[in-house]
Amino acid sequence: MDEVVAGNRVVWERASTKHVREYDELLEEARGEGSLFARERELLAPVLEEGPVVVHFQSGHGLDDVALVKAGAKSVVGVDYSSVAAGAAQRRATELGMACRYVVAEVPGVPVRDASVDLVYTGKGALIWMRDIDAWARDAARLLRPGGHLFVYEAHPAVPLWTWDEDEPQIRPDRSYFAESHINDTFPGNGAQEWQWTLGQIVTAITKAGLRLQVLEEYAEPFWRPQDDTNAAAWSGRLPNSYALLAQR
Ligand SMILES: C[S@@+](CC[C@H](N)C(=O)[O-])C[C@H]1O[C@@H](n2cnc3c(N)ncnc32)[C@H](O)[C@@H]1O
Repeated sequence: MDEVVAGNRVVWERASTKHVREYDELLEEARGEGSLFARERELLAPVLEEGPVVVHFQSGHGLDDVALVKAGAKSVVGVDYSSVAAGAAQRRATELGMACRYVVAEVPGVPVRDASVDLVYTGKGALIWMRDIDAWARDAARLLRPGGHLFVYEAHPAVPLWTWDEDEPQIRPDRSYFAESHINDTFPGNGAQEWQWTLGQIVTAITKAGLRLQVLEEYAEPFWRPQDDTNAAAWSGRLPNSYALLAQR
């Protein structure tokens, strides 16, 4: 693991203790109606109908894994380099009797057999931690059996530009859409180095890896909002804040 990735991992081991502290709340959330957004459910419906074997890159607290099994997945393997996150997710899934298994490993380089997976699911704060987007796309393509799908629901690459001003949306003077990376200055990855991939770079990496793009939708709503009352003008509907992408091998 390279030095910057290793440094980011230390930040994530610390940040993931939240999943342990809030174990009971997250367990209740997992028991509830599920963490998948309505549009995710719609886009994934034909895939989930088939009872897919799923690998979740950067599975974090694992609520999406429980939701995927409830929505039809045969099984989910969550892959995360935080042993704290994977441990808490495993405990929750076991307590709920869900077919979810967790592996502590780095993405890319996922220790799962080639061409053995029906759906690679990822996003919600995942791609910014990828140092090499081509290697990430190749790893997803490698795992998929022919006909299998990659699904991404992610923060829009323009999001690092927006300030959280509440009156008018502003562009941060210290950020560029075309920058390679920046240091995270918000919860939970504070202090870690994020990489920036434009939408063009992400789509190109996926198609270069041999996948066929089926859906690419951009949304005004962010996938995540802070728990305080912050209501940035950048989230009011005029700017892109998230996207969904479905590609097939
Ligand atoms: C913002 S969280 C999102 C996780 C998940 N999508 C969710 O909603 O809970 C990012 C996760 O990626 C993991 N992560 C970051 N870089 C990684 C890498 N290179 N390999 C494996 N896991 C990584 C972190 O440990 C963290 O759990």
